[in-house]
Parts: sequence; structure tokens; C-alpha cells
Amino acid sequence: MNSKKNKTAQKNPQYKILFVSSELHPFAKTGGLGDVSNSLPKALKDLEQDIIVLIPAYPFAVQKAESIKYIAKINLPAKGFPGHLGLPAGIGKINSVAILETTLPGSQVKVWMIESELYNRPGTPYFDENNIEFEDNDFRFALLNYVAVEIAMGRAGLNWRPDIVHGNDWQAGLLGVLLEHEHEQSGIEKIRPASVFTIHNMAHMGIFSSDRFNALELSPHLWNHHELEFHGDFSFIKGGLVFSDRVNTVSPSYAKEIQTEEFGYGLSGLLSYRSERLSGILNGIDMNEWNPEKDTMIKKNYSIKTLDDKRLNKSALQKHFNLPAKKKTLLLGMVARLVYQKGVDLILENMEEILELPVQIVVLGSGDLELESRLRRWVSRHPEKIQIQLGYDESLSHLIEAGADAFLMPSRFEPCGLNQLYSLRYGTIPIVRETGGLADTVTHASKENLADHSATGIVFHEANGSTIVDAITLTSLLYQNEVAWKKLMINGMNQEFSWKNSARQYLKLYTQAIEDRNKYQKHAPEMFW
Ligand code: ADP
Ligand code: GLC
Repeated sequence: MNSKKNKTAQKNPQYKILFVSSELHPFAKTGGLGDVSNSLPKALKDLEQDIIVLIPAYPFAVQKAESIKYIAKINLPAKGFPGHLGLPAGIGKINSVAILETTLPGSQVKVWMIESELYNRPGTPYFDENNIEFEDNDFRFALLNYVAVEIAMGRAGLNWRPDIVHGNDWQAGLLGVLLEHEHEQSGIEKIRPASVFTIHNMAHMGIFSSDRFNALELSPHLWNHHELEFHGDFSFIKGGLVFSDRVNTVSPSYAKEIQTEEFGYGLSGLLSYRSERLSGILNGIDMNEWNPEKDTMIKKNYSIKTLDDKRLNKSALQKHFNLPAKKKTLLLGMVARLVYQKGVDLILENMEEILELPVQIVVLGSGDLELESRLRRWVSRHPEKIQIQLGYDESLSHLIEAGADAFLMPSRFEPCGLNQLYSLRYGTIPIVRETGGLADTVTHASKENLADHSATGIVFHEANGSTIVDAITLTSLLYQNEVAWKKLMINGMNQEFSWKNSARQYLKLYTQAIEDRNKYQKHAPEMFW
């Protein structure tokens, strides 16, 4: 046996991990959560962890699975389960769910999908085909939590019990709450798995009314402002923050930012109170999927050694968008959910000035209808300078990363951000605002940073229009200087953004969560924060 491999196995603890998420690329993805739910479990599997990802069996997810099999039926407990009260008409009682098993493409990671009428709808994980949010998302994702806990407590007949239950975002916010309840019920004799909760975005808090709280049959004791209650409603994410053994977010800077009023959405006090259990671990990227040397979705593969070939992707991108094929014009790309977070409105407010610069802009995204129509208006006024494609398009997102010269990410806040990391890997200069993960991953092209080879992009501070115009102006000046520009591209391409380091940090977090669980103390509501 390979002795090097043995050594690694001795160093790392080995855990059974149930990774719970509402998104998982390539089965179901609306943003970065889908990417991370794919690439982090794969990295943990490489560290020899026994990890299973649990997601809802959305019809579009089941369809994308190459082979999928039924493995179990889980009967749900009669009490405390949403199915007995208040379900929207026509759905009826949910007494049981089926578990389907498949694997994550290109890996050995097992995926379990929960089959239920609640998930069997077209659209996205959260919205129907007309882009209307499902009214019963509280029930739908409570179901994800309840089923996860049945598996976690070994009641699902699956012959597998995790040491760690790792929940992501508000949709998994009740895991800690339900696991704490198990602990109180059976105590240390029937020890519950430890819980880790990852915040990918504090802006989505899973807030629902008190009627829904009652309908979900959550314990009335939880209705107080130290636990689930939130200004007269209740919040799933708050459950994750109060009850999980460990909480983390997806970059060190965002972990600090959410403890301030500006970014904490009314929960900064709670987050500061739990700061000893709160950390930031930077996301990595899937180095195989986002690799300009092997990417099958781009026009021409390239590497640091063949950087000139990147230009063929630029021409292909200009052609795709019917833009004039200008080689020397700075082509700016953007791929994003078109929402307030991403600062699209800041660009729109200053579009007149931006389009006076020698640039072309291509945008791929969907989201806010007003932002979409404002973008469309600019396209009709300056079709030779700006083009957009509304909707979701995986291949085009790769071509934009490869074909654009620079990538726009003027986010108001950004927990981590993956597109700036993809951009760095593709030699596409990220233009970012100094916030969250963007601040942690992009180094500004100041004179000193250019001189010592640490510069990787353009970083600006204030979230206002003039700073964006300044940043794009600076980018376009740098672009004229071929030597400096090439240096910047190469610096970025030489960065290390694989999951190797971060996956190890998650292992440490799991160990800490188990230690905290072992020191178990009830999360007393009288604790003041
Ligand atoms: P967020 O999760 O806040 O949306 P991230 O930068 O972490 O931001 O991740 C966004 C992910 O979603 C990236 O993989 C990006 O390429 C992808 N994405 C966003 N919008 C689209 C779209 N319209 N078409 C294809 N991919 C998209
Ligand atoms: C969220 C954040 C984004 C982060 C992603 C994955 O959607 O908005 O910044 O990269 O989750 O963690």
C-alpha cells in the first residue's frame, strides 16, 4: 500500500457527514450554493470522508441524474411534522417520503434525494415557472430538515448514521433546532450528531408568520426572541445560528461583516454573541470544471503558456452577442443573479458614462424584472456596445469567463463570490468592490502590487456610481498597457483556489463541533445577547 496515502489517512479524522442543501450542481442550481454543494463534498471525499449529500428530488434534478434508484421509504413521526396541519389545498398529508440514490457526476459522492409531492413541481427550487415564489417554501424546506433528522438519528432504516449534520443556508436552518430537541429527549445515551451550519447569504433569512410557525407544529417554547421569533415572525436562519454547534460563513471578511449592523440584518448581536463558535472559511472552486485548459464549453482552450488563444474566445463571445469584432476594445463580462446584492443598479445609474469609454459589455443573468428591463433599454440604445442574455445558461457562463477581458462584480455585499475566482483562473481581470469574499480574494492593481506581482484585479471601495466609472476607466487604461495587463492575467492565473486547504478547515470545524456537542449545554433562552 502507498505509504504516503497511509500517512494522510492517519492525519485526518474520518467522519460520516450528512451534507444538507437545497441546491446541488448539476442537478439543481440557482447560484453559488449549488457549486459549493458539489465541490466541497467532492473535496471532503478526497480527504477520505464518508459524505452523503441530501437534497429534495425536484423533477429537474431527478431528470438530470444518469442512474437513480429507490433505496428506502421513511415514515415520518406523527407529531411535529408539517403534514397534519395547514398544508395548501390539494397536497394532503405527508406521512412518508421515498429516498432515491444517485452519485455526483465524476465522483464517488453519494446523493440522496427526497421524493415527495412537495418537491414535484416544475420551475426552480424556490420559484414556479412564472417566477412566483412557492407559497409553501416553509413546509417544503421544513420537510428537508425533518427527513435529515430521521436519517441523522438512525430512524430511516438506511443503516448509516452521520457524526456530523452540515446544513447550508436558511433552508437547512431547522436542523440544529430539531437535533437539540433530540438531545433533550434522549440525552447523552442516544447521542445526536454534531451540527454545523454554513451561512452562504445572510440576506435570505427564511422568515415566515406565526401562523406558519403553528402550522409547522414547532414547539411553542421556541417562540421567544432568543430562539426562533424574529420581530413578530420567525426565521429559519435564526434557528441555524442559535442552535448549531458551530456556525461558519464562506469568507473570513464576511464572518466579521455580519457581526455589524450593516450586514447582520438584525442578527448582528446574536452573531457577535456566538462569535466564539463563528468562523469564516473561504470557498474553493472545482478545478476540473473551471479549467481553461480543458473546458469543453469554450471555443479554444488555453493556459498561461498559450494566452494568445484566449482571444479566440473573445471573438466567439462577440459573435455570440452580435457585437462588432473589435480586438482592441476592452470586453467586460458579467454573469449574475440580477439583484440588488450584485450592484447592477450601480452600473445602470452610470451607464451613460461607462459606455463613453472604449468598452463593450455583455451580461448574462436573470432576476429583478425592473433591472432586466433597464438593461434592455440600454441595449436598444447602444446595441454595438452592450448586449444581454436573460436567463440561465451554463455554457455561456463559461464562454464569458474565457472570452471577456475583465469581469464586473460591483457587489454591495458578497459572502464569498465564485465568479471572481473563475475569472482569476481564466485570466479575466476581476473588477470588484472591496467587500466580503471579494476583498479576501482579489488584490488591487496598485503600483506597488503590480511591481511585486501580487496584483490580480481592480478593487474599489465605495458602493457608488463614480467609483465604478473610475474603476472601469482604470481598467481600460491598464488594458492599453499590454505588458502590465499580461502580468495581471498571469498573477491571477497563478493563484491557488482549489478546495484543498478549505476542505481541511471544514474537517477542523467538524472536530470542534463534535467537541462542543460533547460539552453539551442546553442553549438556554435566558442567555442574553
Ligand atoms: P451567488 O451565489 O450570490 O449567485 P456566486 O458568485 O457565488 O454568486 O455564484 C454564482 C454562480 O451561479 C456561478 O457559478 C455563476 O456562473 C452562476 N450563474 C449565475 N447566474 C447565471 C446565469 N444566468 N447563467 C449561468 N450561470 C449563472
Ligand atoms: C451565496 C453568496 C455568494 C457565495 C455563494 C456560495 O449565494 O451570495 O457570495 O459565493 O453563496 O457560498
